[in-house]
Amino acid sequence: MKATTIFTTLAAVLPACAVPTARSTGDSFGGIAIHSGSPVHLSSINANGNSFWLNKETSSYCPNTTVTSCPQGKYTSFTGGNNTLSLSVEVPGGQRVYVAADGSLGYTIPHGSVSGSQNVSYTGFALKDSGIHLQYKNADWIAVPIGTAYKVYAAAAENAPKNGTSFAFRVQAGDAAFGAWEYL
Ligand SMILES: *[C@@H]1O[C@H](CO)[C@@H](O)[C@H](O)[C@H]1NC(C)=O
Ligand SMILES: *[C@@H]1O[C@H](CO)[C@@H](O)[C@H](O)[C@H]1NC(C)=O
Ligand SMILES: *[C@@H]1O[C@H](CO)[C@@H](O)[C@H](O)[C@H]1NC(C)=O
Ligand SMILES: *[C@@H]1O[C@H](CO)[C@@H](O)[C@H](O)[C@H]1NC(C)=O
Repeated sequence: MKATTIFTTLAAVLPACAVPTARSTGDSFGGIAIHSGSPVHLSSINANGNSFWLNKETSSYCPNTTVTSCPQGKYTSFTGGNNTLSLSVEVPGGQRVYVAADGSLGYTIPHGSVSGSQNVSYTGFALKDSGIHLQYKNADWIAVPIGTAYKVYAAAAENAPKNGTSFAFRVQAGDAAFGAWEYL
């Protein structure tokens, strides 16, 4: 996956205001929801409370006492996407992204995996269409309204809700290696 390819392709399909800058380091990327005419169109896909959301802020943490400087942590940044997917974090051990048994997209707490009782899938992610779309098991995503936000589910998951708004995860090139020290 070449940053130049992504940049060129995105520039062709996104409105001028949303054209991302080319990546300077690493292979990290953000995500925006694409479904023209729907309320979720062009919403960023954000990590918050071990789930992913549209129309909800990114939640991150910087341990000021032990770390002198952290990434800004305002945006949700992913890395990988070749079968497995992670959050682009500086914290040792990283944070892995998974699809939970209820079909929702989730992520592990720092330094750890999910609790042993949870049945989650860490594999099946892929970057498609020259790297501009993230899919899970060859399918897109579903946004289910909860309050004023929308929770993200994988459409291919067995137990995914059927009553949400479908959307495509459009990869948006990032400009920093890490999105946050860690996401909460
Ligand atoms: C700690 O880091 C956060 C950013 O994560 C920043 O907003 C806050 O001001 C910092 N606190 C101190 C005491 O430096
Ligand atoms: C994805 O991972 C597989 C197995 O590790 C590897 O053979 C393949 O080259 C990778 N594809 C990309 C695009 O990096
Ligand atoms: C784990 O979840 C998958 C998908 O929902 C399901 O097919 C499988 O039976 C579950 N396994 C266990 C041990 O609960
Ligand atoms: C959507 O489906 C879920 C179960 O999959 C249910 O809990 C929820 O109430 C449904 N919401 C609406 C608006 O139908």
